[in-house]
Amino acid sequence: MLRRLHHEQPETFAFTPANQAWAEAQITKYPEGRQASAIIALLWRAQEQTGWLTRPAMEYVADMLGMDHIRAYEVASFYFMFQLKPVGSIANIQICGTTSCMICGAEDLIGICREKIADKPHTLSADGKFTWEEVECLGACTNAPMAQIGKDYYEDLTGARFAEILDELAAGNVPVPGPQNGRYAAEPLGGLTSLTEYESGKTQYNASVQAAVDLGDTIKKIDGTEVPLTVPWLGKGKSKPAAQKPAKKPTSKPAAKSANKPAAKSAKPAPKPVAKDGKPEMLKKARAGGADDLKQIKGVGPKMEALLNKLGVFHFDQVASWRKAEVQWVDDNLEGFKGRVSRDEWVKQAKTLAKGGTTEFSNKVKKGGVY
Ligand code: FES
Repeated sequence: MLRRLHHEQPETFAFTPANQAWAEAQITKYPEGRQASAIIALLWRAQEQTGWLTRPAMEYVADMLGMDHIRAYEVASFYFMFQLKPVGSIANIQICGTTSCMICGAEDLIGICREKIADKPHTLSADGKFTWEEVECLGACTNAPMAQIGKDYYEDLTGARFAEILDELAAGNVPVPGPQNGRYAAEPLGGLTSLTEYESGKTQYNASVQAAVDLGDTIKKIDGTEVPLTVPWLGKGKSKPAAQKPAKKPTSKPAAKSANKPAAKSAKPAPKPVAKDGKPEMLKKARAGGADDLKQIKGVGPKMEALLNKLGVFHFDQVASWRKAEVQWVDDNLEGFKGRVSRDEWVKQAKTLAKGGTTEFSNKVKKGGVY
């Protein structure tokens, strides 16, 4: 299918402040010189903001990433997830037309789209509320036929139920996603034949549907109230909405070419230099709030924990900050346990624990399965 940019384009594009902050945070995921890797994430966000991907949006994103505009056009026109034409103000309906869905009634659903939305895909309905398209398998084949509407799946559809769903959406309601024939999830149509003991523990909806109901964002559009991306890799928690303008203003003229030039600088604070002998910074005692349970690090038992405390190590973030020479120093100074830090990858484990995360081993410790 030939994918071309729409013949009518808006003059400009700019991310909302919250989306700008989100996009800048995304870029910091990639190493210097590799900022272009963020292009799909940023184009997707731009599409979520506008509903479809406009040419100024592609150029804006390319400028943020220091890429030639043509490279953004190439990505956007290659992937079908990017909508190059305006979509319905309520939703773009994606009907799976692949084998399982086709056998189970996808053609009926497409017929209803033709009747209720527009005869041709990618065409706005008369009221501007909907567009539709046929897509390849969306991985819900057991619940065929199905349609993706906004962020969620409507499964086990019949033509009649699908028509009702469109009517409900048009009236401003959002029907509960998931199976539409009374099925709980993807169990056999005749009911469970195994694991029947779990039947009694069922919640009202399966996990995916429950998440959709809880989030309530099936067809919600970006409106500037979104929480910006968390950037724990910068040790900051949530990034703040950017108050400043984008690094480069969007322009419809070709920008100065500078392929792969990083546009956003990492906000990492400059690390302290490693001491000459490699000894990491130690503490005299644990900070207020008490020491971390270092035994959650695989390779640290009670004896080792006592030894670390004696050296001045009390917290996960201390271990997480060790660089190569510092790891070497600690490895060399663990009486009777030399080499444990690198052998058991303490730094990697501590990075997860310092952010409040868990590891397979720390979970075992918490359940009392270790020592
Ligand atoms: S064939 Fe339709 S979801 Fe797989």
